Amino acid sequence: MTQQKRTRERPFAEWAEYFEGNLARHERLDRTIQWGSISPLPASHIAAIARSLQRFELGESGEGRGLRSKAARLGDPYHDTALALFVAEEQKHSALFGRALRRFGVGPLEAHWSDAVFVQLRRLIGLRTEVTLFLVAETVALEYFAALERSADPVQRGVARRVLTDEVEHIRFQVAQLQLGFAGTPAGLRMLAAAAAWVVAVGAATVVAIDHGPALRVGGVTPLAFWGRGLRHFRRAAAEAFGSGARRARPGSGALAHPEPARDRTTTEAATHPRSAEAGSRHEPEGPAAHPEPARRAA
Ligand SMILES: [Fe+2]
Ligand SMILES: [Fe+2]
Repeated sequence: MTQQKRTRERPFAEWAEYFEGNLARHERLDRTIQWGSISPLPASHIAAIARSLQRFELGESGEGRGLRSKAARLGDPYHDTALALFVAEEQKHSALFGRALRRFGVGPLEAHWSDAVFVQLRRLIGLRTEVTLFLVAETVALEYFAALERSADPVQRGVARRVLTDEVEHIRFQVAQLQLGFAGTPAGLRMLAAAAAWVVAVGAATVVAIDHGPALRVGGVTPLAFWGRGLRHFRRAAAEAFGSGARRARPGSGALAHPEPARDRTTTEAATHPRSAEAGSRHEPEGPAAHPEPARRAA
């Protein structure tokens, strides 16, 4: 079977393969984080980042049971595998944030209103809408991690870089899910879905800009700049997810621009991201996708 035919008939097979292939890359990247280093940040910056990381630690810790059981009704084992591995990656992010918090002597949150709202909302809705909420959360959060990657603290930098390489592909994965989910939907209804997603995206970007403002400023990003960039990422991803005629989002390609590169991003990506290394390019070529993440949970 040719690669093209295989992709058409089993669109999530390559996503399952991508996520499976990530395990070794994660281990390699995790080893580069300088956990034993002393943070050079002043106490006020540590407090701002810790308060923010607590929300992400909680938001990414869910098991994705609702999401996975809805998806299971599609009867696509490749999709099920990809989704399970996607949730596992989010849980790994949560564990990294937890470790970064412990280094600061800060414990995790038991609960937070934004997480509770996100989880409850997702329980009430169908698979496409739930994936749309993830797309909103992930595109908005991209810039948050980009800000964290500019931190003077080597651990924050390492964790952010590690998480960013996953998040860009997560957005592409969600775009692929929505492209297939809306494949038979008339253009008018797709536009309606996109409009509703825009309302949610503007609200989410606003909440994150306000709630995580102090941490963003530590990374040199004003809440307003964050808001604009986050929504720009969402616009790119939404155009591919809800538009007609967009190329199918695939691992390593698609409408996703990487957030503003930190100093050595080009080098780092080529060295650490299998797909971009293969393609010999940066993460901003053909497709759509983009995001930082508001506290959310794959519950
Ligand atoms: Fe994540
Ligand atoms: Fe993600």
